[in-house]
Amino acid sequence: MTPAEFTEGDTRSEPVIVIDVLRAMSTMIQALANGCRDIIPVDSVERALALHTSLFETDILLCGEREGMKIYGFDLGNSPLEYTPDAVAGKSLIFTSTNGSAALIRVRKSKHIYLCSFFNVTAIAHTISGKSENLVILCAGQDNHFALEDALCAGMLISHIRTHSKKEHELNDAALSALQLNSIYGNNINAILKQTDHGRELIRIGMKNDIDFCAQVDAIPVIPLFCDGKITKL
Ligand code: MLT
Repeated sequence: MTPAEFTEGDTRSEPVIVIDVLRAMSTMIQALANGCRDIIPVDSVERALALHTSLFETDILLCGEREGMKIYGFDLGNSPLEYTPDAVAGKSLIFTSTNGSAALIRVRKSKHIYLCSFFNVTAIAHTISGKSENLVILCAGQDNHFALEDALCAGMLISHIRTHSKKEHELNDAALSALQLNSIYGNNINAILKQTDHGRELIRIGMKNDIDFCAQVDAIPVIPLFCDGKITKL
């Protein structure tokens, strides 16, 4: 339910699926769907700036947010609606967000890391079903606290994996709770996202459209893979 539950630098051999519905994974999925070459997630603004300076290439964009807003001097913020083909096609992105990229950095030593949001939940279930007996699903959460939207997406993912692989997986307590959340709220995603802590914060800063966009289940069936420090489309 939170990145703190995953030991920093742990090398897991089973697939690790990182979920951040609002908004980092949704934004990166949209960027890849719209033709960006790759994404380098970093966990601080300083590291993003230093990396940008050290790479002498012109087609690299600095992207991300702090407190939900575009970082001063960056090319793009963290609204998936900014990541149009005109903005990102053929470009590499250096991306830093408060929780999403930090969660990715935490799991970076694992062998098979996938990014998930409502956009690609069924596609991810199909891709990983049958690949391994064990799975780790990590919710990015918010400042190491539970985030309902991520847990709900995790529950939907678990439900699809169960249907697809026709197996009763053994679930830990968090996974069992996530599955229950999906049975309660799974048909009402847009409305519940607007009631979450993070949803209310996005509405407060004028980003309600991002919630409507991120609530679309299976709208962007892209499989983003994080390997050797870069996220690319499978
Ligand atoms: C994060 O990674 O913390 C989120 O994507 C924050 C946001 O909605 O901008």
